[in-house]
This record gives sequence, C-alpha cells and structure tokens, in this order.
Amino acid sequence: MSLLDSTHQTVSHPERIAVIGAGYVGIPTAVMLAHFGHSVVIAERDEFRRESIRNGRSPILEDGLEDVLAAVVQSGQLEVTADAVQAVAGAKFVFLCVATPMDDDGRADLSFIDAVAQQIAHALRDDAIVVNKSTVPVGTMERVRSLINRPGVRVVSNPEFLREGTALGDSLKPDRIVVGAEDRDAAKSVAQLFASTGAPIVVTDATTSELIKYASNAFLATKLSFINTMSRLCDQLGADVDDLVRGMGSDHRIGFPFLNPGPGWGGSCLPKDTSALVAIAADAGLSLDVVRAAIESNAAQQRHIVTQVAAMVGGSLSGKRVAVLGLTFKANTGDRRDSPALQVAELLLAAGAHLCSFDPTVATDDASGDVANLGVCATLEEAVAGADVTVVLTEWAMFRSLEWSRLVPTMAQPCIYDARSVVDLESAHAAGATVRSIGRS
Ligand code: UGA
Repeated sequence: MSLLDSTHQTVSHPERIAVIGAGYVGIPTAVMLAHFGHSVVIAERDEFRRESIRNGRSPILEDGLEDVLAAVVQSGQLEVTADAVQAVAGAKFVFLCVATPMDDDGRADLSFIDAVAQQIAHALRDDAIVVNKSTVPVGTMERVRSLINRPGVRVVSNPEFLREGTALGDSLKPDRIVVGAEDRDAAKSVAQLFASTGAPIVVTDATTSELIKYASNAFLATKLSFINTMSRLCDQLGADVDDLVRGMGSDHRIGFPFLNPGPGWGGSCLPKDTSALVAIAADAGLSLDVVRAAIESNAAQQRHIVTQVAAMVGGSLSGKRVAVLGLTFKANTGDRRDSPALQVAELLLAAGAHLCSFDPTVATDDASGDVANLGVCATLEEAVAGADVTVVLTEWAMFRSLEWSRLVPTMAQPCIYDARSVVDLESAHAAGATVRSIGRS
C-alpha cells in the first residue's frame, strides 16, 4: 500500500498556511498539509533548498517525499519564498519549524525562534494562530507570545514526533497529535488541521505539550541506553543479546521497538533533547539522574565497540587499516549530525587506526568538515580492500546482502565487527570471515 492510500486529499475548509523553515520538520509538514488540500507557502532562507523545492525535488532524503512534494508544487498547493513576512501575510496558521540547536550549556538555542517571531509579528493576520513545531523548552510559547505582542494572535504548541527517513509516513499516520495552548479553541482548530490522519489527539496546556516532546525523546534514549548496556553485559557474561531482546520484547509492556542494540543513539534530536531536558529539570531544582545516566551510558557503548574492534586485531589499532561501513546516524537518511558512526570513527582514529570509509550518501568530494580523516571511498569494495578489520556502523539495507565471498579475499584480515547486526553470518562465515558484534559472544 502506498503512503497516501489511506489519507484524504481534500479538506472541506482549505486554509492558507505558512510554514517557516524548510528542514526535516518543515518540509514534511508543508507537504502533508498541502496534500490534505490546504494552500501552503513555505519560507526558507537557503537558496539551494528553495530552488530544489521549486523544481519539485526534495532537498532532504526521505522515503516517498519527493513524489508528493512534486505533485503539490505542480498543482500550486505548495509555494516557496525566501521572505517569511511575505509567507505569513494572509495566513490563518503559521507553523514555526526552525532549528533549535544545542548551546554550550546543553540548553536549546532559541535565537532562530526569537528572530522569526520578531520578524513576522507585524505582518500576521489579526486572528492568526502561530503554531510552534520546533522543539523548545517549557515556557517558550509565552516567550513567543510576548515577542509577537499582538492581542488577537494566539500561540499554540504542537510538537512533532516524526523520524528522519520515514518523515512523510510518520506525518501522514502519526501515533498521536499533541496540541497545547491556554486558549483551547485555538488548540482545537490546530488539531482540526490533522483530523484526516485519524490519530488520537491530546489537547493540553502549553507547558505539558512542550514537556511531552522532551519526555518522549528522553524515554526512547533511555530505552536504547538500557538495551545497549545489556548488550555490554551480555559480552561480559557470555549471554546472547538477540535472545535477550526476544525474551524481553515479547512482553507487551516492554515491546520490540527501540530495543535493537547498536553503536548508541545519535542524530539531531535525541542527544540535543536529552541534554535540554536535563537542563530544564536542573533549572526547576530536579536532578534528572535517569536521563543523565542514559547520556553517559551512550558514550560508553562507543568506547566498548572500539575496545572490541581492537581485540579482533590483537589489542592495538595503531597503524591498522579499518574499513568503516556507514557514516550516517541511521539508515535511510543523509544526516550525519551527532552520528554514533562518526563518534566511533573518531575513537578509532584516536587509537591510531587509518580509516577507509564508505556510506551510500557520502561522496568522496564531500566538503563538510566531518569527513576530514575518514578516507571516504567511492565504493564499498575500495573501502574494504586491504582492511585489517571491517566495522559496520549504519544499518543500510545494502550491507545486509553483501557478497562476502567476493569481499573477504580482498581484505588484509578476514575480520568483521558488526555493530548493527546486519551482516549475513552464513555468507560471511562461508567466506572464512570472523564476525563479532555487541552482545553476541
Ligand atoms: C527521533 C524520535 O524517534 C522522533 O519521534 C522525534 O520526532 C525526532 O527524534 C525528533 O525529535 O525530531 P530520529 O532522530 O529521526 O527521531 O531518529 P530515531 O529513529 O529515533 O533514531 C535515533 C537513534 O537511535 C539513531 O541513532 C538510531 O540508529 C538509534 N536506534 C533506534 C537504535 O540504535 N536502535 C533502535 O532500535 C532504534
């Protein structure tokens, strides 16, 4: 079934909607609202992103997004502009989807939100509803309201729960819609925009709504840190983490999602939001010990992997050639922000290894800073040839069906470390490789 089969394409009351920010949240939100039949203008400062959208191409790698984007651009339901003031003119709903990066104290940096609120304040319709989808600390709605300072304009919190890589599907079929505002009528009219999704709707106050977002991401991070810690314990005790997961996840109170051990959690959200929640709690006089432990434990997972990789080649990585397969923070995205793969790569480099990396989304001439010493290769074959050990760090589907019988003979040593549990053991073993992975001794 296609992503769109179960969604309605027309709403009875099409609204004029502005979306500020064409990033991982803004684009799927704008495309989905346009697909539902609303008239949407997306404002973006970056020229490359604007041109890309105008030409019906998605500037971010997202399953199924480009087709729907192209359709709504062609039908005129979605327009793009550089000018946020122009975008909000006449719009009943204005979605703020700008970045809230982490500042040096682990707190969310609100400078983009502040700047947009000040910039658009005078241009908003008298009855506009400003909807915040960016992840912001508790109290930000009030801050935006006072920056806008227009009596009729209402401000609503509507956190986003979509995942990178499946953003369109998550937007069209969310598990829930959360809307928070002191003015419940405003909250309900925002909820109405998502009625076609059929998702349960939680209407609450702005503080609770803002907290739901952080609490959800912190819970997911803690669940992952728990299973990753168990995978290290399995290594110590000689237990098997796959069977452990089967045994735990079958309990419906625990469940299988977010129970796959790996090189730790990363990306643009979980690390930033866990740190921000710890800071929010500290400001409120509470030490969020459970989340702090999850953060510390995440870094321990990466150190553990490097120790195990070193053990495969005699204990020292100095001067060893390591093939790194996968650089993005997870599969099906081109995003390397806070990627555990890069963090492991850094530790490998610090241990004296020489890296040859391959990721299907990273080009050899990639100019971004994080690829400096990664030795990015154009092909997987090139990365693996001559390697003392091959380390799989992202769960790309192509790594599941590798022809090890062809690859292993080109390696200096037939050693594979699989941090994502994607290597086909039968074919790797048949090719004479030794395969190790976390929690599977
Ligand atoms: C996360 C949340 O899942 C979304 O609900 C939320 O909307 C989003 O953050 C956000 O705040 O914007 P995302 O960052 O796209 O989504 O990534 P996830 O799919 O949650 O994965 C996070 C990390 O956990 C990745 O490094 C992934 O590889 C890792 N992971 C995930 C595992 O190691 N094992 C698992 O079983 C699941």
